[in-house]
Amino acid sequence: MAELIDGRKVAAEMIASVKAATSALKAEAASTPGLAVIIVGDDPASHAYVGAKSKMAKECGYNSIQHTLPEATTQEELSSLVQTLNRDPSVHGVLVQLPLPKHLDSEAIIQSILPEKDVDGLHVVNAGKVATGDLDGGLVSCTPAGAMLFVRRTHGADLSGLSVVVIGRSNLFGKPMSALLLAANATVTTAHSRTKDLPAVCRNADILVAAVGRPEMVKADWIKPGATVIDVGINRVPAPDKGEGKFRLVGDVAFTECEKVAGVITPVPGGVGPMTIAMLMANTVIAAYRKAG
Ligand code: GUN
Repeated sequence: MAELIDGRKVAAEMIASVKAATSALKAEAASTPGLAVIIVGDDPASHAYVGAKSKMAKECGYNSIQHTLPEATTQEELSSLVQTLNRDPSVHGVLVQLPLPKHLDSEAIIQSILPEKDVDGLHVVNAGKVATGDLDGGLVSCTPAGAMLFVRRTHGADLSGLSVVVIGRSNLFGKPMSALLLAANATVTTAHSRTKDLPAVCRNADILVAAVGRPEMVKADWIKPGATVIDVGINRVPAPDKGEGKFRLVGDVAFTECEKVAGVITPVPGGVGPMTIAMLMANTVIAAYRKAG
């Protein structure tokens, strides 16, 4: 049976470091990290994530500001709020929860956030720094940064000689994850929906990272025996056994069968998920430190 990575435990350790850094910043520079989170519309999953982010920001001792906007919000209204937050010196991090309603241009909004306040690491300046291997100068996207902590704990900082397959090529995860792995000397394959014979590609992976958003897509016979499997998917599937209208969370990996083949595996929930929030808190205190000089 594979060894399980306890994401809640690793995230709690990161949060403890963040709290210590926050106390030091308050004492030495009289500065309190400020995080503004914007959510537009009524998507229940997005509301759950944003609620968890705002709550954790408070727990870390931050100024936590949540802007909840109606579905009918216009591009101009959202853009104007981002500009206001860009100018506000008490705000060090601005996060716009994705996906936005379809009538809004997400890319234009994300690119209008000041790079130094882009704690999601999605601005082209931050994404470009990750892509060029400048991992200290900007802000690294939270979920890949969290997944990299798991990789480092299992394999160390240098992944020379290891084959890694990342399934998924989104700007939010797949592309920055592949770039971080490459910067750590891994041999990286970025697979996606157009990849031919995906199971065969995955069977080469010493480390397999799945971020496709398809419940339990990765099967046991896709996994090289002893491989490290990192499941980034969070999918809500109906759970009639729990009652009418109930759901449960599953990853992109068929966990029960894959844990029999993998060497190390992350569960869902309790794997990568908690790390996203922990790294968001880390990025916010980093942004506040840089502002304090
Ligand atoms: N939606 C799902 N994950 C994320 C994330 O990490 N950041 C933002 N802004 N939206 C998301």
